[in-house]
Order: sequence, then structure tokens, then C-alpha cells
Amino acid sequence: MSEHKAEGVAPTPILDQNQPLTQVMSRVYDRYFRTGYYDQRYPVANRHTFHLILSALEGQEWRPKHILDFGCGNGRYLLPVLKRTDDNFTAYDISKTTLELLAERLDIEGEKERVSIIHGDLGQLAEHIREQGPVDLIMLMFGVLSHVGEREQRLLVLRELRSFLADSNSLIILSVPNRLRRFKEKTGGNNGGDIVYSRKHQGEELTFFYHLYTPAELKVELEEAGYVVHEMSAESYFPESWVTRSKVIGSLDRAICRVLPTHRGYGILAIAGPR
Ligand SMILES: C[S@@+](CC[C@H](N)C(=O)[O-])C[C@H]1O[C@@H](n2cnc3c(N)ncnc32)[C@H](O)[C@@H]1O
Repeated sequence: MSEHKAEGVAPTPILDQNQPLTQVMSRVYDRYFRTGYYDQRYPVANRHTFHLILSALEGQEWRPKHILDFGCGNGRYLLPVLKRTDDNFTAYDISKTTLELLAERLDIEGEKERVSIIHGDLGQLAEHIREQGPVDLIMLMFGVLSHVGEREQRLLVLRELRSFLADSNSLIILSVPNRLRRFKEKTGGNNGGDIVYSRKHQGEELTFFYHLYTPAELKVELEEAGYVVHEMSAESYFPESWVTRSKVIGSLDRAICRVLPTHRGYGILAIAGPR
């Protein structure tokens, strides 16, 4: 497993000077998923986000053939989207544990054939895409981009992902935490949006790096990486763990999100395509 490398871009020294961020994050997510804590907090897809993905798929004249879930975790979005389409999927993550859990779930559901599971660095993913063919839809759901590192590293990943897209009809759908709502005590409203935070679970501390975005910043970053933003909206109003653990709150939240301005969202959802 290796970091996302670019010429002249140093590894993010946020958590540990001696270790690339991807190694640190993969270990943290291994624990987060292995303990079952992630599933406990986010047992299902966010209804609002899931329906937005489906309508992006259905609203197009084209039919996607190859969907990449980048930072797929244990398949919280991949599995329900898989069940609603006939398409082929690539599931990529830096955490081996998440992919093992996904493989178990696919096995149980009898859905292994349409999913290629890729663990490793961006180079290994790129090699797979070259063999498998370009991608019609990329999902980066629930803060994956925010874990990638500093701005140059995020741009590197976004540009690489753009190079995977099949044509001008292809889409990328992503969601990131909203700096105007989240962790204000850490950012004081303004520190460039980079934070390190910890969650405690059964005496164990899980420490994450996160980049918090404003909607305007996300748009600029996507444009700089070669995308045109088609649509932005709030991912949820209530915290994701409330929305995904309670059907009632999830449905209420979905209704609220239809009218909620993007900058009031707990997370920011964006749909973009290659420029
Ligand atoms: C908050 S979880 C989201 C998982 C899934 N997309 C979902 O919505 O449930 C973040 C995921 O991103 C993965 N991740 C973190 N840094 C990554 C990176 N640099 N490249 C790819 N995946 C990464 C983690 O291993 C984890 O599975």
C-alpha cells in the first residue's frame, strides 16, 4: 500500500511525520470497520444521497456501464446501487478490512460477478481501469476526498479520476463535510479547513485527518482539476449517523434537503463532469 504520489508533492505530515497519510488512514479505517463501529454509526446509505445517485443514473440518456466506488468502505452505497442496475463495478479502498467485509457481503448476496475489488495505490487502480475500460460514473461518498490529504494531493487524485472517465457524459458524485457547519470549535471558522480529530470507541481512540470544505472551495477545486460542476446540494441537515440509523429522521431529512441551501448542509454533495 502506498501514498498518492505526485512530482514535487510531499506526503501530508499531519498525523505522523514518518508515515504517509494513506497508511495511517488505512489502519484507522481497518479498526473502524473491523470493530463494527462504522456499521453501527452508518448502517445504511443516506436516503437523500442514494436517491440522488439513482436519479443521476436514470436522468441520463446514456446507460452507465462501469461504475467506480472510490473509497467504497464496506459497500454502504455500492451494494444498493448494484442491486438497482445491471452495470459492472470497481470497488476501491486503501483499507483491506473494508474490502474483505465488502467481499463477504457480496458473497452472501450472490453478487460477486459484477464487482472487481481493488486494494492498493492509485497506480494499481489506474492499471485495473486500463484493463477493464473507462468509467461512466465515479462515486466518492461521505468524505473520502477529505481524507486524501492536502490540496495538491486532492487535486492529484481528482485529476487521475478524471482521466478514468469515459466521455463528456460521464459523472463524478462526491460528498464532503461542510466547514460552515462542522467542527467549528476546531477551525475557529477559519484555518484552511484541515483538522485532526479523534473518536473514542470502547477505550480505543481512532484519529483521522479531515479537510473540511465550503461549497465555494469545493467548486473551485473541482474546476481546477478539470471538472464542470453540474449540481450542488446539502447531503443532509441532521448528522449522517442520525439520518442513517432512523428511518423517520432519514425521511424527514430527505424532505428538508430538497429546500435546504447547500451551505446549511451537514455535508456538501456535488455532481460534476469532465470539462
Ligand atoms: C467515511 S468512509 C466512507 C466509506 C463509504 N464511501 C461510505 O459512504 O460508507 C471513508 C473511506 O475512505 C477510505 N479512504 C481514506 N483515504 C483514502 C484514500 N486516500 N484513497 C481511497 N480511499 C480512502 C477509507 O478507508 C474509508 O473506507
